[in-house]
Amino acid sequence: MRILGIESSCDETAAALVADGRRELSNAIASQVEMHAQWGGVVPEAASRQHVHWIVPVVERALAEAALSIEQVDGIAVTKGPGLAGSLLVGMSAAKALAWARDLPLVGVNHLEGHVYANWLTGVEPRFPLVCLIVSGGHTDLIYMPEHLRYERLGRTRDDAAGEAFDKVGRMLELGYPGGPAIARAATEGDPTVVPLPRAWLPETLDFSFSGLKTAVLRLWQSSNRPRAADVAAAFQESVVDVLVEKTRRAALERGARTVLLAGGVAANERLRERFAAEMPAPFVYPPPRLCTDNAAMIAAAGCFRLAAGERDGLDLDVSPSLRLV
Ligand code: KG4
Ligand code: ZN
Repeated sequence: MRILGIESSCDETAAALVADGRRELSNAIASQVEMHAQWGGVVPEAASRQHVHWIVPVVERALAEAALSIEQVDGIAVTKGPGLAGSLLVGMSAAKALAWARDLPLVGVNHLEGHVYANWLTGVEPRFPLVCLIVSGGHTDLIYMPEHLRYERLGRTRDDAAGEAFDKVGRMLELGYPGGPAIARAATEGDPTVVPLPRAWLPETLDFSFSGLKTAVLRLWQSSNRPRAADVAAAFQESVVDVLVEKTRRAALERGARTVLLAGGVAANERLRERFAAEMPAPFVYPPPRLCTDNAAMIAAAGCFRLAAGERDGLDLDVSPSLRLV
């Protein structure tokens, strides 16, 4: 089954072809990161306009790179939410137009489910039951999956998402946008033990909290003897990673997970991957960095599993900007 995936929930216009939910045939992305960097964050109206500009060329590129014509595609998967309404609408309209014109089955995919299914594109088959930590710009969710497409939430952030905390602290330290990769880069030059930063353990739960940490960084940064940015970046990253690792490890033990997965943009973080590889009680599977951040191959992969399970959406499918996974 060859599925065309379309993703436009935030600031990447993306299209990809995936076979059988596991094999990437192509993965085309037009990124707007540089444009939004001048404003220090994503400007929704500007994002929608860029999506309109790029959506057709990106779909054409995905087909060309897979050396396929639209006649050889078996179905279309599109991100229906969560995300920016105006951005989501562009991908959704393109997907519906293609599905209608070529009489192809259409399925809407939750963007977060897409991040989880990037793990099926790794060449390593995750085994159920599993525990997955989703860490993106907008979400931090600890998820239990007893089988395909079934999710139970074990924990979530009570305030900022992990990626959001990286982005805000990156801006504070004037390291550039997006903050995640910038902090990771700066941290390699820093010593995580120089600056003391707190960890919100919330010991009775598997929930997370990053706003106290963010405030602690701000206070340090505004103090009279300001530490080196590299040392703050290293200490901040270590504090976030410590809590993510410990809660996921506990969840995997409690639930008898046979695999532990990482998903979402922050899953590209080297230090996080290194600690997961060393400390998880079950085999650890994670996507390569280019499949951690937003892309359409992950949407096609998740869509393959949904279509294979017999799911279909009609042309009345709508976007859901605040859609939840569980
Ligand atoms: O999943 P994603 O591409 O978009 C959302 O769905 O939100 O995640 C983007 C987030 C941003 O907050 C970005 O700073 C973070 O992922 N990120 C990283 C790294 N690469 C991207 N955070 C930490 N370390 C990285 N290497
Ligand atoms: Zn994402």
